[in-house]
Amino acid sequence: MSDRRARFMRVLWGALALYEILNFLFLSLLRALPPPILSRELLNVAEGAGILVMILPLWLVLSFREILPRVRILSRIFFLWYFILGAFWIGAIPGMLLVSLARGSRSTYPGLISESALAGGLLLTGALFVLSLRARFLPPRIIRKTLTFDGLDPRLSGTTILHLSDLHVGAWQGEARLRTFAGMVRDLSPDILAITGDVVDHREEEGEIFERIFSPLSGRIGTVAVLGNHEYWTLEEGAAEVMRRHGYPLLKNESRLLVTSGGGEIRVVGIDDPAGADYESDCGPDLDKALSGVRAGEFVLALVHQPTLWEGRLCESAHLTLSGHTHGGQIGWHPPFPNLASLFFRHSAGLFPSSAPASLGHFLHVSAGLGYYGIPVRVGMVPEMTLLTLLPTPKKG
Ligand SMILES: [Fe+2]
Repeated sequence: MSDRRARFMRVLWGALALYEILNFLFLSLLRALPPPILSRELLNVAEGAGILVMILPLWLVLSFREILPRVRILSRIFFLWYFILGAFWIGAIPGMLLVSLARGSRSTYPGLISESALAGGLLLTGALFVLSLRARFLPPRIIRKTLTFDGLDPRLSGTTILHLSDLHVGAWQGEARLRTFAGMVRDLSPDILAITGDVVDHREEEGEIFERIFSPLSGRIGTVAVLGNHEYWTLEEGAAEVMRRHGYPLLKNESRLLVTSGGGEIRVVGIDDPAGADYESDCGPDLDKALSGVRAGEFVLALVHQPTLWEGRLCESAHLTLSGHTHGGQIGWHPPFPNLASLFFRHSAGLFPSSAPASLGHFLHVSAGLGYYGIPVRVGMVPEMTLLTLLPTPKKG
């Protein structure tokens, strides 16, 4: 097992253990509530439901190992309940402390602690829900970044790349909202429009929604895209063919030369997603094939859905790599501040310069994306699209 995978599994088991602890504490709190707040009958119902949600991780683990069938609604209940529990306890702990302080030292357990925990927890859970739902109705954040490269062809100076990722068009995204995204892309009018996968979420028809709303969009010199794991999970071995039919400008382990009006050239390389390898022998990442068209001296822009592939040869070959997949964890902030994805990914969201000697001056950009995975919740890490502008490094002196 690779170090990266071992770390991922450690965090995953830790997260599941935390889920069980939070559930256990929550059930203990309910049991400690005085009867006027929670009657015996209601407590019985709550305990029954509590035991069911505590079994959910076992179902999820077994379904990922294909011992039990995957049931989408169960994973949604798990994520939603985990969010509610987390928000509840973040509110309950300061709630208990504040009410204890306000009532002085005569407070006794369990009455005071239970009531105050319940009040604090419910208050913060409600506040976080309002915040997370608010992000669904506001336009996405436009992030603008300027990147400088040593020796950049002056004809590429000022070239703009609009990076979209993880639209998940069928999951919690109404068509009106998708049309808002499309309108913003038109207004920004980038030179290159780059899409790094997970456009569909879990239904074949979502390819048609992409075709209707997004396929008419184009960068001034080109539009390029790669597949994500969700395209493969949904469309399996037909993913590339179906998405191309819907007007998805796919690069699958291949490259394309884009030329600016001034004659500057950008070699765009698209790397296929590892999820493809589960379905067809010619799917999944093939760096040799993808990079075979690259010529010496070209400026190379790489697209790859999962940022974990940004290492070694890809990092050395591409001046700029665009990625998505993480959603920035949907909760938290861009690094250096924490977010849920930073528990699992070294590059969770934002811009990362390479520190390896063979690829100094090269960058990875990870988009937190526009859509949702699991539950329609984003707190702090709101939906985003990023406009990147290329410039040559200014000469010293
Ligand atoms: Fe993904």
